[in-house]
Amino acid sequence: MTRYVLALDQGTSSSRALLFDREGRVQALAQKEVPPQFPRPGWVEHDPGELWSTQIGVAQEALARAGARPSDVAAIGITNQRETTLLWDRRTGEPLHRAIVWQDRRTAPLCAELRARGLEDTFRAKTGLLLDPYFSGTKLRWLLDHVPGARERAERGELAFGTVDSWLVWQLTGGELHVTDATNASRTLLYNLRTGDWDDELLGLLEIPRALLPEVRPSSEVYGHTAAHLFGHRIPVAGIAGDQQAATFGQACLTPGMAKNTYGTGCFLLLNTGTQAVPSGHRLLTTVAWDLGAGHLGAGPLGAGRTYALEGSVFVAGAAVGWLRDGLGLIREAQEVEALAASVPTSGGVYFVPAFVGLGAPYWDPHARGTLVGLTRGTTGAHLARAALEATAFQSAEVLLAMRRDHAAPLRELRVDGGGSRNALLMQIQADLLGVPVVRPRVTETTALGAALLAGLAVGFWDGVEDAARLWQEERVFEPALPGDEREHRLARWRQAVERSRGWAEA
Ligand code: G3P
Repeated sequence: MTRYVLALDQGTSSSRALLFDREGRVQALAQKEVPPQFPRPGWVEHDPGELWSTQIGVAQEALARAGARPSDVAAIGITNQRETTLLWDRRTGEPLHRAIVWQDRRTAPLCAELRARGLEDTFRAKTGLLLDPYFSGTKLRWLLDHVPGARERAERGELAFGTVDSWLVWQLTGGELHVTDATNASRTLLYNLRTGDWDDELLGLLEIPRALLPEVRPSSEVYGHTAAHLFGHRIPVAGIAGDQQAATFGQACLTPGMAKNTYGTGCFLLLNTGTQAVPSGHRLLTTVAWDLGAGHLGAGPLGAGRTYALEGSVFVAGAAVGWLRDGLGLIREAQEVEALAASVPTSGGVYFVPAFVGLGAPYWDPHARGTLVGLTRGTTGAHLARAALEATAFQSAEVLLAMRRDHAAPLRELRVDGGGSRNALLMQIQADLLGVPVVRPRVTETTALGAALLAGLAVGFWDGVEDAARLWQEERVFEPALPGDEREHRLARWRQAVERSRGWAEA
């Protein structure tokens, strides 16, 4: 009998592999950094070969650590940094260029041009997204326009486009499968939420040949098996979801009105809106939360079909702490930020807008840049550290306020995960600025757990979606303690600081 499900989590800064047992406990974890490269200001790239070699390396290491045989593994689930765009040769598997990472801003002029042609509403209505360089579509167009010969070869059907999930499945199956799942497809600007398929009008507008695209499949299904040479045993590849959607599943936000926020490089807040793809009137994203397919998990609201979410994407959260460490040398380890920030009672009037790569939701300003306001002669590193934590909480609070306007149901609690959720000071600031309890689960590896659950459900390792709720356990609740008027005042000051950061890159 199989004992584990293996989750592969390919993120912006590392490749990770986690082995989960039937109780959802982590039995082994292996991790390797994959630092992105910054070839020009605003450009962010990854080496596709490195994404794969680190990912397969940590998978094998995780098995070795648990003393597990490949035949002990019931299934592999994949979760990934979303939107990051790859293009490779279908015959040789050779990438044509380095992967263009989600944070990359090089297509800001193309987005502005499409907006000037009045096309934003068309993209928005069909995809639930906005015209921002964040999404894959304009990145793929850039590759076709800039890599010599790429367009002609794409039209001849010789090339494959994929987000990181597609690339990993291609590699895992020895080039047999070119697929993605609905969550990843819903981040490309090419996928129609209503039809559940690539959209010919959008492909035409972005001049992208359909022959490039992977087949879109549910998030939980046996897509195929690993190539024999990788593990010496063909393991089913049975789950795919973008990392933020996987975390929403792993956090058991299974019913409409439940929400989670993941504190990583950026911060991504997703609110389950059930079977309805709710359009946002406040510049949030409408996205597929997961697609459980035609019902191998049984009928009923939790057994089949698609669930949607509203998402607020904040580009820089933990990355601001990384800048305090690497850019300013204020701390040696990221964890030190909590003690430094706690050494002062307030940020002393300092506001820090970490718009290093522009601003995501709800501003979507690729030209905003990092800004510090309110400095005085008495400002210290401790005030900056506190302002950096507050910035993360302010950005998430703004997203949640926008969500409340789009989706009237009151939020009872916000479930949190990701590295930053270990920071108790940040979580208390977050609860204070939201006015909603912030709840941290015992297992904060919810992204990987979500991917494992999706894969495990497809092969019967777990019985039903309710298992996600059964495995989720609360560890700590942070209750809001700030009076409402004080919260309003701070948010108003924050918005003033944001205004000062906007449009700067154009100047
Ligand atoms: O949309 C980008 C997001 O998926 C990246 O997540 O955890 O790799 O920073 P992460």
